[in-house]
Amino acid sequence: MEAYLDNAATTKVKPEVMDVVKIAMTEMYGNPSSLHRKGVEVEKSIKEARKIVAKAIGGKDQEIYFTSGGTESNNIAIRGMVEATRRRGNHLITTKIEHPSVLNTFQYLETKGCKVTYLDVDKRGFISLQQLEDTIAEDTVLVSIMHVNNETGSIQPIKEISQLIKRRNKEILFHIDAIQSFGKIQFNVEEIQLDGLSISGHKIHGPKGIGALYIKKGVKVKPIVTGGGHELGIRPGTENVPGIFGLGEAVKLIFTDQNQYIKNISSLKNHFYSWLDNQLEGVTFNSENNDSFAPNILNVSFSGVKSEVLLHSLEGEGVFVSSGSACSSKKRGYSHVLTAMGLKDEQIDSAIRFSFSDTNTIEQLNYALEKIEKHVSYIRKIMKR
Ligand SMILES: Cc1ncc(COP(=O)(O)O)c(C=O)c1O
Repeated sequence: MEAYLDNAATTKVKPEVMDVVKIAMTEMYGNPSSLHRKGVEVEKSIKEARKIVAKAIGGKDQEIYFTSGGTESNNIAIRGMVEATRRRGNHLITTKIEHPSVLNTFQYLETKGCKVTYLDVDKRGFISLQQLEDTIAEDTVLVSIMHVNNETGSIQPIKEISQLIKRRNKEILFHIDAIQSFGKIQFNVEEIQLDGLSISGHKIHGPKGIGALYIKKGVKVKPIVTGGGHELGIRPGTENVPGIFGLGEAVKLIFTDQNQYIKNISSLKNHFYSWLDNQLEGVTFNSENNDSFAPNILNVSFSGVKSEVLLHSLEGEGVFVSSGSACSSKKRGYSHVLTAMGLKDEQIDSAIRFSFSDTNTIEQLNYALEKIEKHVSYIRKIMKR
């Protein structure tokens, strides 16, 4: 048996998604910019996909721009909004637990003369609204805060954050990285009063290399790539048609019955959490099993067990997990997220992220739990010698 429990890193593409990707490659291969029938039919289907994404987040079709993924969406939103608002001020706010596609973008902007405040998080992984309020200044132009953290699943209170920002100054732009929350948490961009939002296809059973960016109508964004007029000039380049079709289908599959989808993944997390909580000694949860955390992510430390040793032991049994985020795990060093939460070195060193999707079954989870029990006790025994 195999148990792929690394769905926050990426997900398996659903068969329905593969079907539409294939159509885009074999039948509907025209360039959407072409004036003939082969192009026009593709353009029409891209419009459909845009509509599906817009509806899923409560935005308008014209507010959705297709990109090459979450990283590019974050870059266009942050750099593009800063470039367009530079004359109003140059103070920016983000958090210490962002994904590298956000953190490194802010670090880049610092080299260009921007002042950036990186908000702290508490030991549960949440920012302080008071610190945010105290940090907002006359020259603040942009706040970018992740919705769901990719390592622990903590959900920042984006509605309260948005209300606070807009109460202080309506002109301050608010962008969220919703790459881990899209599909798994219900939200509406208009209700929250967002100016920008990033999503990625491969976290929701869509293809890799496709994403979308929501930009509220009227918000100015300077493109970071120069080219033709595709995506209203915000993201020039011939469209990734197979990716766009695939993303549209992946979104449709979840949002046809999002409540059920959330129920499915929550019950998997609940099962896994309860078993670990009741059956295994020396387990510390770095995520919680409640509404303040994503329904699909569980970060756990197994005392006395180095995460990399456990990860590779489990891999040998066909159980795939992560020791922190996939994007940073190849780099040596501690997780910046768990460090910002103030966890002890030993806890960080033994942290494993389990992340579920509706392609997992209870049987797979039970298989994984059996192997976890086996290897955790074995590693602990060896370490004691
Ligand atoms: C929170 C978060 N933001 C951004 C990204 C980057 O998305 P992509 O892989 O589509 O570039 C990821 C991917 O791991 C993520 O988890």
